[in-house]
Amino acid sequence: MGETNRIFNPLPSEEDRTLGKDLRPSSLDEYIGQRQVKENLKVFIEAAKARGEPIDHVLLCGPPGLGKTTLAMIVAKEMGVNIKITSGPAIDRPGDMAAILTGLEKGDILFIDEIHRLHPQVEEVLYPAMEDYCIDVIVGQGPGAKTLRVKLSPFTLIGATTRMGMLTSPLRSRFGVILRLDFYTPEELTLIVKRSAAILGVEIDDEGAFEIARRSRGTPRIANRLLKRVRDFAQVKGKGIITKEIADMALKMMEIDEAGFDSVDRKLLLAIIDHFNGGPVGIETLAVAVGEEKRTLEEVYEPYLIQEGYIKKTPRGRVATEKAYRFFGRVKPKQQTLFMDDL
Ligand code: ADE
Repeated sequence: MGETNRIFNPLPSEEDRTLGKDLRPSSLDEYIGQRQVKENLKVFIEAAKARGEPIDHVLLCGPPGLGKTTLAMIVAKEMGVNIKITSGPAIDRPGDMAAILTGLEKGDILFIDEIHRLHPQVEEVLYPAMEDYCIDVIVGQGPGAKTLRVKLSPFTLIGATTRMGMLTSPLRSRFGVILRLDFYTPEELTLIVKRSAAILGVEIDDEGAFEIARRSRGTPRIANRLLKRVRDFAQVKGKGIITKEIADMALKMMEIDEAGFDSVDRKLLLAIIDHFNGGPVGIETLAVAVGEEKRTLEEVYEPYLIQEGYIKKTPRGRVATEKAYRFFGRVKPKQQTLFMDDL
């Protein structure tokens, strides 16, 4: 299984949670990219402020590392309220959810990451909380047990998910606003890398920033992590300045290829091509073949490979495209055209 601290892994590492904090933008104006999401949030914030009410519950969807938590923190700051950050799998029992909710003050934001992974009984506590700002508490046991309605302070739930399709419909329908985050363009990531370099106090030229950006799988968290590692190379092997040559050398040594793929991306593509004749192949089979969890492949690796056109999802499984074959200097075999209706 993949080690959690891998540089390519877009899940947050301990370093991101500690040292990396200061790289986060703290206002919507500082936040680069996701133009539509930002414009929407600006309107909701302004309108809610003018009415003196909390903003409507917001669901943020998209692959890991694109800035969902950062956006929630920015919304809290711009609304001038507290934010409590937790995640779906971290809340074990309905009582824990009730305790979190009753601890919120008027207007506070509750941010639940990986909200699609809430336990069903925990999720049920959220329904009346979101709809009517109240929770139902059962007092006593057996036939004498009573349900007590407890009022909550009006609050905003910001949920984040990498898997929109795995949200139950009662939960999804209780969000007033659903916003999707997309992968960043290399140009947006270049701006992010330059901004982060300035904060870290490291010199970088335009080509150096672009090289890191274009090999960061459209993901700011990866770009920032690569920047920190390339900075080490620049210090030790260069003159402390990040140029295209230094970035290229550092990325090569980290085994990040021209497309920004790591060893798992390559293993995944080669497994489809070599072991399964280009596909279609089921995700469970692929997970075994590359030694990663199915969920990691679906949530972390596939979205970028699909967006960039290296693999396609079909009803019968995953298929390697011609672009994938070309990437490895191969030609897609003729018999593959049998599956053209899947492409
Ligand atoms: N750092 C990480 N993500 C960022 C973003 N979207 N804009 C600015 N800086 C960032």
